[in-house]
Amino acid sequence: MKNILHIISSARGDLSYSNRLSSLILEKLLQQHTINKVVVRNLIKDVPPYADEVSIHEFYKHPALYDEQSKKLLSYANATVDEVRQADIIVIGTPMFNLGVSTPLKAWLDQLIRAGVTYVFDEQWNRVGQFKSKKVYLAIASGGRNTEGAPDYISDYLKDVFRSYTGITDVETYRIEGTMESGFIADYESILKDFYAVNDLS
Ligand SMILES: Cc1cc2nc3c(=O)[nH]c(=O)nc-3n(C[C@H](O)[C@H](O)[C@H](O)COP(=O)(O)O)c2cc1C
Repeated sequence: MKNILHIISSARGDLSYSNRLSSLILEKLLQQHTINKVVVRNLIKDVPPYADEVSIHEFYKHPALYDEQSKKLLSYANATVDEVRQADIIVIGTPMFNLGVSTPLKAWLDQLIRAGVTYVFDEQWNRVGQFKSKKVYLAIASGGRNTEGAPDYISDYLKDVFRSYTGITDVETYRIEGTMESGFIADYESILKDFYAVNDLS
């Protein structure tokens, strides 16, 4: 039995292609009947705080030094870490904004990733991610289409962040591209046609 965390980060609600694609991925996972719990975190309704001077100071503190004020300042960050820790599968929807992830998704990552929490250093000062054996699905919507060989600032970036700072290496990417083209029709079925073939959900 798996726990799923679904991250929504487009402000466009039902009009959003990334929200729809990530919801369809979630449906596919639910159809497998192996799911225990689904937590939906809508970053538009539950906006992650920006890292400001005071909260960054708390991020750098050793956990032994946390006081009541720290707990307050770190409450969103700690809840975010707990949700990821408890999830076996994380489904993340994001629009492409100026080649990168959405602003709330970036803010969510900045709340999640923390030295001493999502990763630690070993004796040789190598980072060791603390969240292994989780699977991440990315659902990325972009107005244009990715040109062959062009840098990928969303999927490659997120894969690197998860690998380097959490230890999660299993990241599967689905894209809906060209959403701003005139006459665009969203063909989710063909985007997800190999979903069960590619993903062994047992
Ligand atoms: C501020 C802004 C920046 C955008 N930047 C890009 C971009 O760099 N490349 C691109 O292909 N589309 C870009 N788009 C188009 C969106 O990626 C597209 O509308 C996508 O479908 C949005 O995702 P959503 O449907 O899940 O909301 C941008 C849209 C906005 C509003």
